[in-house]
Amino acid sequence: MTKSTAKLEVGGQAHDFDVLKGSIGPDVVNIASLYKDAGIFTYDPGFTSTASCESKITYIDGDEGILLHRGYPIEQLAEHGDFLETCYLLLYGELPTKAQKQDFDYRVTHHTMVHEQMTRFFTGFRRDAHPMAVMCGVVGAMSAFYHDSTDISDPHQRMVASLRMIAKMPTIAAMAYKYHVGQPFVYPKNELGYAANFLHMCFAVPCEEYKVNPVLARAMERIFILHADHEQNASTSTVRLAGSSGANPFACIAAGIACLWGPAHGGANEAALNMLDEIGSVDRIPEFIDRAKDKNDPFRLMGFGHRVYKNYDPRAKIMEKTCHEVLSELGIKDDPQLDIAMELERIALTDEYFIEKKLYPNIDFYSGITLKALGFPTTMFTVLFAVARTVGWIAQWKEMIEDPKQKIGRPRQLYTGAEQRDYVPIAKR
Ligand code: SDX
Repeated sequence: MTKSTAKLEVGGQAHDFDVLKGSIGPDVVNIASLYKDAGIFTYDPGFTSTASCESKITYIDGDEGILLHRGYPIEQLAEHGDFLETCYLLLYGELPTKAQKQDFDYRVTHHTMVHEQMTRFFTGFRRDAHPMAVMCGVVGAMSAFYHDSTDISDPHQRMVASLRMIAKMPTIAAMAYKYHVGQPFVYPKNELGYAANFLHMCFAVPCEEYKVNPVLARAMERIFILHADHEQNASTSTVRLAGSSGANPFACIAAGIACLWGPAHGGANEAALNMLDEIGSVDRIPEFIDRAKDKNDPFRLMGFGHRVYKNYDPRAKIMEKTCHEVLSELGIKDDPQLDIAMELERIALTDEYFIEKKLYPNIDFYSGITLKALGFPTTMFTVLFAVARTVGWIAQWKEMIEDPKQKIGRPRQLYTGAEQRDYVPIAKR
């Protein structure tokens, strides 16, 4: 990294800090010695201007609406490849050769079954448990079953744990869905591709042959690709922070799932569809636009806005195209929620408030309509996001563990609480 310097004056004392240049994107000021040199901390709640790490995996240009995975545009990966090709790229840094792809597919496919005893976890949950609650519990419990891949200092165990996570997440997600709907679990089938296998495990029943629709399987592959990784978002940062203490990868991924669940993050796809339901008809859109603009109303347009994208989320455009493909394949002519979504997008994009605040549809805006058309209940939407994002979490976790400069993450604070004072016995309070 080429260097220049930045000067900071604190209490009349000038301090120089290295400015580090990446391959593309903003430079960073290395302030690691700030507290030692100047006795002060930086302050950046929500990390709006803070780079938490150096990474080579994903690059986002929020102003231009660009998303690259190891340099490859998301549009090209979604158009040409399948999800396991993107997984290989994120993990190893290069697109696989034919032989490498076949070997990777074989290795992932032969890790898709879960330990049979894991099925007992599900019966411990209430039938109406939210599938994301089940995912947090069952994925965290994987460290109780796969002891032979929890030693993070062993590169072989790290790779086995990575493959196990990528391979088993669809199986566990499908089991969470089957438990949710009261149907028997369906085992993975090795002759099916990643997305087709997942659809089969979700929608097949023992009473009849289930044929996976190839158009829907392709759409599912593309939806997984779109959700695979996204730089240092909240859940990825959670996984990195959990991993920085040396916690095992299964526990770190469970932490990422918990963070993703929030409606401001991965939970927005479920919240966006619920919002479209609440709006109910096109003529009520202005009322909700006004609410979204009202500072005293906590309501926000779910599926709109983004911390980084101040332009169209490139994934949202591909998601919208996939949505139309799925609806037409299923012969769904006029989907009322799609009509409301498209009219809501049209109005919002012409409204001064959204233009001024650069609020555009994000990946969660159209994904809910698509997933509902594929047959998933809204409670499963964030589970699908978690299935896809597991490879991103794992790739970022692996990059952090393999960084020789890696150390435990431990932020400081601006303390504004009580100054030191003496204990008062209860009789005197
Ligand atoms: C994901 O980080 C990632 O990369 C995440 C993700 C990934 O792939 O990992 O891309 C996936 O999480 C996508 C985002 C899904 N969330 C939603 O769709 C929920 C609705 N969106 C918002 O809650 C919000 O836009 C966030 C949380 C996404 C971003 O919030 P920021 O960056 O903290 O921005 P902000 O809250 O400071 O908003 C800036 C202004 C505010 O107004 P002012 O206080 O400046 O007057 O824009 C307003 C906000 O009130 N605003 C919205 C809005 N989003 C922001 N107003 C109405 N509706 C919205 N959706």
